[in-house]
Amino acid sequence: MKKITDTIELEELAFSELNHLEATLVQRAQEISKNAYAPYSNFHVGAAVALDNGEIYQSSNQENVSFPVGTCAERLLLGYVGANYPEQVPQMLAIVAQRAGEDTWAGVSPCGMCRQAINEVENRYQSPITILLLQADGTVLRFRGIRQLLPLKFDDLHS
Ligand code: THU
Repeated sequence: MKKITDTIELEELAFSELNHLEATLVQRAQEISKNAYAPYSNFHVGAAVALDNGEIYQSSNQENVSFPVGTCAERLLLGYVGANYPEQVPQMLAIVAQRAGEDTWAGVSPCGMCRQAINEVENRYQSPITILLLQADGTVLRFRGIRQLLPLKFDDLHS
């Protein structure tokens, strides 16, 4: 038996430490979270992505009475940009969340399915995506690529 230890790296930043693009993405995600359709969870999520041509797109989560049919904000967003702007490489993704009726922001972290979806986009374009997660205390966690959120990820059908 061989013991294997893996590590992940992330950074915690105050909002004031974000660069212009990072701050813009978090704000765009906050704005679009108002459009969440989340009558079952009351958890309103917003995601914003920057493409390598400088364009920014955003989405909220969209739920369904048949719960598994609902779609997370970031997966809806990555599907949209992949379908509409396949020549542009997603570079940075911000995700935020707020519970219905609250003024403060909730902590959020992408579900396993969304981590795998982000991984697919990185593999498609052979380019890591910086992921920003707004936390309940107002700080932002920054991950340089999905590996930091998905160690031992599934990448290859043939290896
Ligand atoms: N959700 C997202 O949209 N993104 C995340 O990163 C976390 C979870 C959604 C799914 C569901 O509509 C609600 O939040 C509660 O899980």
